[in-house]
This record gives sequence, C-alpha cells and structure tokens, in this order.
Amino acid sequence: MKTRITELFGIEHPIIQGGMHHVGYAELAAAVANAGGLGIITALTQPSPEALAEEIRRCREMTDKPFGVNLTFLPSVKQPDYPGYIEAIIKGGVKAVETAGNNPAKWLPILKENGIKVIHKCTAVRHALKAEAIGCDAVSVDGFECGGHPGEDDVPNFILLPRAAEELKIPFVASGGMADGRSLAAALALGAEGMNMGTRFIATQEAPVHENVKQAIVAASELDTRLVMRPLRNTERVMNNAAVERLLEKEKRLGASIKFEDIVEEVAGVYPRIMKTGEMDAGAWSCGMVAGLIHDIPSVQELIDRIMAEAEGIIRERLTKMING
Ligand SMILES: Cc1cc2nc3c(=O)[nH]c(=O)nc-3n(C[C@H](O)[C@H](O)[C@H](O)COP(=O)(O)O)c2cc1C
Repeated sequence: MKTRITELFGIEHPIIQGGMHHVGYAELAAAVANAGGLGIITALTQPSPEALAEEIRRCREMTDKPFGVNLTFLPSVKQPDYPGYIEAIIKGGVKAVETAGNNPAKWLPILKENGIKVIHKCTAVRHALKAEAIGCDAVSVDGFECGGHPGEDDVPNFILLPRAAEELKIPFVASGGMADGRSLAAALALGAEGMNMGTRFIATQEAPVHENVKQAIVAASELDTRLVMRPLRNTERVMNNAAVERLLEKEKRLGASIKFEDIVEEVAGVYPRIMKTGEMDAGAWSCGMVAGLIHDIPSVQELIDRIMAEAEGIIRERLTKMING
C-alpha cells in the first residue's frame, strides 16, 4: 500500500508503533521495522542520552529498515536532558522522530537541519494545525479512545479524524482504538493515510514486557479502562486495577484540592514494576479501550501481515461489492 505516510518514512505499510514508556525498546521497534511498519524507540524510557545511543545501536543490529524515536514533552518532576537525547538521535542516524505532549517548536530546527522527519502526536485539530504551521512533516491524531494521554477535549476518532482531514494539508495517521484491518480501512476512509497503534503492539510476541501484561490486555474488554488525573488536567487512560480504583477514590474524596503528591504511590515509578515484573496492581499504566478488540498474542509480522490482508480484503471485496451491487 502506498500513501503519503509510507512515502515520507520509506516504509512498506502505513502502520506506526507509537512510543510507549517501558515498552518501546529496540526489540519491538526492530520487529515492527522488519515487518514493514515504522517501529519507534521511546527515548525517555532510557535513563540517559548514552543509554538511548546504545538502544539505537542495538536496534540497528536487529534491522536494516528505517525506525524512529519518540520524544515526549510532558510535565515531569525532573526535566529530562532533551538536547542530549536529540544528539543521540542525530548521531545514531535516526531519520524519524515522533514528538508528543508539549509543542515541539523549540526542537524542530535542529531535527530538520539533520534531515529528520517529524510526526507530532496530538489530540486536537487546533494542535495539529499548530504542528503543521511550525513545520512538522505529519501528525498522529490521537482520539479520545487512545491509551495514554487523550487530552481534555474528549473527541473520539469518528469526529476527530474527518475534522483533521478538513483542516490539514500535511498527511496524518489515525491513532487510538486501532487494532486490525477494519481499523486501517476505516482510518483511510476518514481521511488518514495510515494508523498508529500502541496497546495492540503490546500484545505481541516481541513486545519486551512481562507475559502478565499481554494476558491482561487479552483478558480485558472495552469497558476495562479508566480516565485518571483529570482533576490535574493530565488525563490518562489506563487499565483498571486495584491501584486505579484507589486513585479514583482519592480523586473523588479530595476533589479540586487534589495534588500530584496525593497520588504519587499510584503513578510514580510504577512502570518497571508492571512491565518488567508483571505486578499488575502496582499502579496506573496506559492502556486503550481497544483492548476489547485484542484477543491474541501474535508475532509482529503475523499481526501486520494480517492487518494488511484484512484491510485490502475489505477495500477490494466487501466495499467494492457494495458499490457494484
Ligand atoms: C503502555 C503505554 C505507554 C505509552 N507511553 C507513551 C509515551 O511515553 N509517549 C507517547 O508519546 N505516547 C505514549 N503512549 C501512547 C501511544 O504511543 C499511542 O499514542 C496510543 O497507545 C494509541 O492508542 P491505542 O493504545 O488505542 O492504540 C503510550 C501508550 C501505552 C499503551
């Protein structure tokens, strides 16, 4: 399949694996790249720019196809060494960066000077237009369904994607709630030129996370995620568990007076315990409603081949037959 996204990133299929904290290691990024999509290493999961440089090197050992790095600009207790991470990206010869969170304008000149294509992930049309205006090459439009941070506007993809198509000139991919060939065909119909997946890629053989995390996603239905941290205007969609119920109880009890310090136990530093050791109640971890559409743990190659075959089948047969009668 050829779209402006496959052309932009030099990939075979219009499928991107979004940055994921403590999931987006070289193993997953390389598996996605080898299967013809754009795999992405998550910079801030690496403790230092040197560690990111090493992760990029490891990924290159596992694939000769293009892959990218995610740079997330979110409120954090300690400001990460962004210039150092960017230097590691440039020196590592990476040619695609997914930015997310705050406006990446400050970092665009150096990325572009080094021939790096930038796709900015955002949850509102006004932010997508801003990304276009500052010179991003593409955007990833993340609907309310998404795992992670859906923003505060709560617009689902059935509205958000065609709205983005009405306004944007640069290409965009649909993100949030994407799982299979039906998602891809629908995303293309709504004006996107590909799709970005997070949660679906965690439930794959190559995702370097504990088996408990994969099984939790397969076991979950579309009713099993919750929105946390809304009172802090840092809304995150997470898998429900004992820690999340405790967190929501605190939000209810403390109301508008809640502070980050009140929920530290449920959100800070919990990712390694969940993703590495499989302690599924250790805290809140991002997960999309799309868990309800995930029923197996295939290899990344099987998943991507299946998505492409299903999308092509829908477009060539089901939809074409409807037109031809
Ligand atoms: C466990 C997990 C961790 C994530 N971490 C990040 C992150 O560090 N930076 C980021 O930009 N997006 C992050 N995301 C969001 C994904 O890149 C992607 O936008 C989102 O998962 C899409 O929605 P989906 O889960 O319905 O596919 C994360 C998502 C998950 C599920």
